[in-house]
Amino acid sequence: TANKKLLILPGDGIGPEVMREVRRLIDWMAHRRRVSFDVQDGLVGGAALDATGSPCPDGTVEKARAADAVLFGSVGGPKWDALPFEQRPELGILRLRKDLGLFANLRPAVVLDPLVNASSLKPDLVRGLDVMIVRESTGGIYFGEPRGIETGPDGKRRGVDTEVYTEDEIARVARVAFDLARSRRNHVTSVEKANVMQSGRLWRAVVSEVGKAEYPDVELQHMYADNCAMQLCARPKQFDVILGSNLFGDLLSDLAAALTGSIGMLPSATLGAVGPDGRRNALYEPVHGSAPDIAGKGVANPLAQVLSFAMLLRWSFGMEEDAKLIEDAIGRVLAGGMRTADIMQPGMARVGTGVMGEALLRELDKAAA
Ligand code: NAD
Ligand code: IPM
Ligand code: MN
Repeated sequence: TANKKLLILPGDGIGPEVMREVRRLIDWMAHRRRVSFDVQDGLVGGAALDATGSPCPDGTVEKARAADAVLFGSVGGPKWDALPFEQRPELGILRLRKDLGLFANLRPAVVLDPLVNASSLKPDLVRGLDVMIVRESTGGIYFGEPRGIETGPDGKRRGVDTEVYTEDEIARVARVAFDLARSRRNHVTSVEKANVMQSGRLWRAVVSEVGKAEYPDVELQHMYADNCAMQLCARPKQFDVILGSNLFGDLLSDLAAALTGSIGMLPSATLGAVGPDGRRNALYEPVHGSAPDIAGKGVANPLAQVLSFAMLLRWSFGMEEDAKLIEDAIGRVLAGGMRTADIMQPGMARVGTGVMGEALLRELDKAAA
């Protein structure tokens, strides 16, 4: 059979730095596990803007459509912060999600045993934590119309964003959350602010309907998003799957990152609908951004990017064994005491991006021997 098509979009800041460690892993897989992919590279974000004038050139969208899966780095940075809204690098990822119909962003927050003490919370609160945040990713306030900055008759400016959700948009992402719950602990917490937002009222109603009609076996709980943020800090282990809008899911997943030790550890999968042929568009991206404060220093944690690649192998390429191999090797590297700066703990060995990547390959070598 033909090789799986993988599109790599490194982007900006630490994106290319952490992606380099995935490339080395791909080379290792070719040599040691005799699996190879048809790897293509593409431009996105500020890098694409500088080269082509657009943060998401048509060529990149076409390559992404043609690929079996996309591995995305991160976009944005101070160099482009003053540009008009339509030219911001961040539009790169937003357009990819929208144009490929990637409506479900899966963000697992897992506390690995060796990192229990790197969490912002007390060890007992987070030991064994395994939460899956399902974030809607093509709708809501990120895309709703009208939006913009306008000047009123009084000469004063107004900033406008609009939160809109249709029942179909809510139902399809709810199904993703319910399906995931069935393979986990069978519990979904749906978050909104139905107490103050009309879109939140509809969200709660539709999620309830889908749950009752199609997933009566899955326990469904509704929670206001602000309370959920508090509960995540106070008693995170009560959660299994958390379902939320584009904006609430974005906020809660950064919060969950702090519980796991570092945002440098959190991968994600952004998935489209399953087509009649069983295929689905899919893009894999770390939860973190381009980290301008540490870019170019060789100190970024590459593990969120590597774990995103592992998710890609599992979800898009059906390579569960390889995904597990990589995740287990990461566990052993961390258990061995190696730490990038973001997860550094007393008594551990501080290393940079490249050394962390090499340590991972050494662990994999041992496992393959
Ligand atoms: P950020 O996630 O880039 O950084 C937040 C903090 O976490 C920083 O202190 C950073 O050093 C640290 N951090 C992030 N990733 C790390 C890693 N792998 N290893 C070690 N430390 C890490 O968020 P920000 O600073 O708010 O945003 C910076 C830029 O990135 C902005 O332009 C923003 O729009 C963009 N951004 C892009 C994405 C994406 O491409 N998916 C996601 C979030 C932010
Ligand atoms: C993320 C980021 C993006 C988002 C930005 C860069 C557009 O914060 O992937 O979490 O808000 O979706
Ligand atoms: Mn975010």
